[in-house]
Amino acid sequence: MKSAIVLAAGKGTRMKSTLCKVMHPVANKPMIGHIVSALKAADVNHIVVVVGHGAEDVKEYLKDEVQYATQMSQLGTGHAVMQASALEGLDGDTIVLNGDGPCIQKETILKAFDANKDHALTVISANLAHGGSYGRIVRDESSHVKKIVEAKDCTKEEYALTEINTGLYVFKNKQLFEGLKEIKNDNAQKEYYLTDLVEIFNRKGWSTNAMIVDEPDETMGVNDRCDLAKAETWMRNHINEQHMKNGVHLIDPSNTYIDADVEIESDTTIYPNVVIQGNSKIGAHCEILSNSFLRNAVIGDDVIIDSSKIVESQVDAHSTVGPMSHLRNQTHVHENCRIGNFVEFKNTDFGNGSKCAHLTYLGDSTFGKNINVGCGVVTVNYDGKNKFRTTVKDGAFIGSNCNLVAPVTIGENALLAAGSTITNSVDDGDMGIARARQSVIQGYGTKYKNK
Ligand code: UD1
Ligand code: CA
Repeated sequence: MKSAIVLAAGKGTRMKSTLCKVMHPVANKPMIGHIVSALKAADVNHIVVVVGHGAEDVKEYLKDEVQYATQMSQLGTGHAVMQASALEGLDGDTIVLNGDGPCIQKETILKAFDANKDHALTVISANLAHGGSYGRIVRDESSHVKKIVEAKDCTKEEYALTEINTGLYVFKNKQLFEGLKEIKNDNAQKEYYLTDLVEIFNRKGWSTNAMIVDEPDETMGVNDRCDLAKAETWMRNHINEQHMKNGVHLIDPSNTYIDADVEIESDTTIYPNVVIQGNSKIGAHCEILSNSFLRNAVIGDDVIIDSSKIVESQVDAHSTVGPMSHLRNQTHVHENCRIGNFVEFKNTDFGNGSKCAHLTYLGDSTFGKNINVGCGVVTVNYDGKNKFRTTVKDGAFIGSNCNLVAPVTIGENALLAAGSTITNSVDDGDMGIARARQSVIQGYGTKYKNK
């Protein structure tokens, strides 16, 4: 059985924030969220998160995806693990992770479990140019891992060591809880250090091991805003590389901002300065042009999106959106549609083959198939108190500069004359016209000019 304990009770004083550290976002997702996703991807489904500072925020975010243990006062990483006593007595291996290491990937988690097969404890270490504030891995003459010493507790020689503790460990679960009983707080910070377990295990004759990671940046710990920015850069690069490996064409990856859970099919091209957030899904052979912003958007194949904003909405295959259009609140544009320039749709269902090419607002409306919406059309959906729906049926033609005062229904193949303010429904095949009849005053133009 594989379990995990994630340490997330600390305040993160160095972040200088009212938000607890593990809730700070990297690539628009809380650090703790990245860690839980990586664990689940590695099939570690039995996860205990130790919460303290910001416990309510963490629980509200992770909901019942994990189990929780509470650490009332933050007496150190060893003390934090003691709170996960729900795991005590279980067989199998347990991975312990600092909640402030957001970049960890499933492959490294799997490797770590593997490395601990024949050991009681494996610490995941990294070789850095400078050890900085990380705990140092001290090895004996035969290069076996002897102990971990916190930077603050190091001798001069120890401080010079460059192999560091990444804050990730795999333990034989039963021995983990046995060993925890022997941790003391006689150190520079008067804390119960989890890292003391290496020495304790060695003393007990339990086999200890260290696994050096290939890419130290993946296991970086975030302690302040500078670290947060480094993690952000690493994560965005990593996400973009995955997409490129999957066949997505990113013209300028360093200026492309894609969240971790976004899915994109191959042969889609993404231009510079595009932001794609949340659970957005984008089909194949799309073009997402510069300055587009998508959040929780579902986009079909062969769609072109030009400098537009699409939030909580869907655009189906072969449609084009933009330039400068805004689709929001559960809008659904079906196949082969053309939306924009300068068009806003809110909570609107827009049927196959319909077009709305210029300067229009459609809100709370249902448009059928093959409808042409002229330039400057407005659904008047709000009377200052309530919202009302507009329905337009298949094949209708909405002339330019019409107002559709909802609630109103326009029938199949109906026609609205340009410039009409429509307050009553129009039946199938009929025409609605609502404007003053034009009169012509002969010669008045010339007369006015010569005045
Ligand atoms: C820790 C390690 C250090 C390692 C580094 C890697 C210890 C003693 N030191 O140091 O060897 O190089 O991580 O990044 O473990 N936490 C709690 N409760 C507590 C204290 C901390 O839940 O009482 C949580 C924090 O929220 C954080 C994590 O544990 O997510 C690590 O704590 P932090 O104070 O950042 O440890 P470091 O000083 O970075
Ligand atoms: Ca840390």
